[in-house]
Amino acid sequence: MKLLAAGLLMALTALAQITAQPAGEKLAPYYPTPDTIVERMLELGQLKPGEKMFDLGSGDGRIVIMAARKYNADATGVELDTDLYLSSQAKIRKLGIEKTARIIHGDILTQNYSAANLITVYLLPESNIKARPILESQLKKGTRIVAHDFGIGGWTPVKTVTIPDDGEGRSHTLFLYVR
Ligand SMILES: C[S@@+](CC[C@H](N)C(=O)[O-])C[C@H]1O[C@@H](n2cnc3c(N)ncnc32)[C@H](O)[C@@H]1O
Repeated sequence: MKLLAAGLLMALTALAQITAQPAGEKLAPYYPTPDTIVERMLELGQLKPGEKMFDLGSGDGRIVIMAARKYNADATGVELDTDLYLSSQAKIRKLGIEKTARIIHGDILTQNYSAANLITVYLLPESNIKARPILESQLKKGTRIVAHDFGIGGWTPVKTVTIPDDGEGRSHTLFLYVR
């Protein structure tokens, strides 16, 4: 009986750890990138098979999933929101791509991106500024960064692409940076 209670307590503690919102500032609301633009981001970032990519604030996981499925990359998302984390992780499991795609339930500003070949980001301008120091200190030379709609203040893009209309009635701007 004692053993059963201890087991139950451990299971409940594990569940609480999974579902509790990690500490961290909400750097942007959830606003997904249309799939056509996701593809343009990954093309602009020249993602190649086997490369490591991170999506900072991964939402429903669409960038991570396309990176793993279509580009055969090793893809990691970071998401603070518990519901988005759980649903995107469930989608990855359902697709059977856990070996090459995963979501970290955590804060963008406390992760390690030193292995990245490509970073994608769709956050607000002031959030990009907050993420900049960690990227500057961690990213290896040659890492590509693709930012959607809002550039990274203080950095000069090597390429800027404007997509007039994605079919949903609004234009998009993509910024490519190389460290
Ligand atoms: C504009 S959405 C972009 C979602 C996805 N990257 C896309 O382009 O479809 C920004 C995402 O960042 C997440 N987010 C905001 N602050 C965060 C933080 N400190 N750490 C991790 N994720 C965060 C939000 O919950 C949201 O899902």
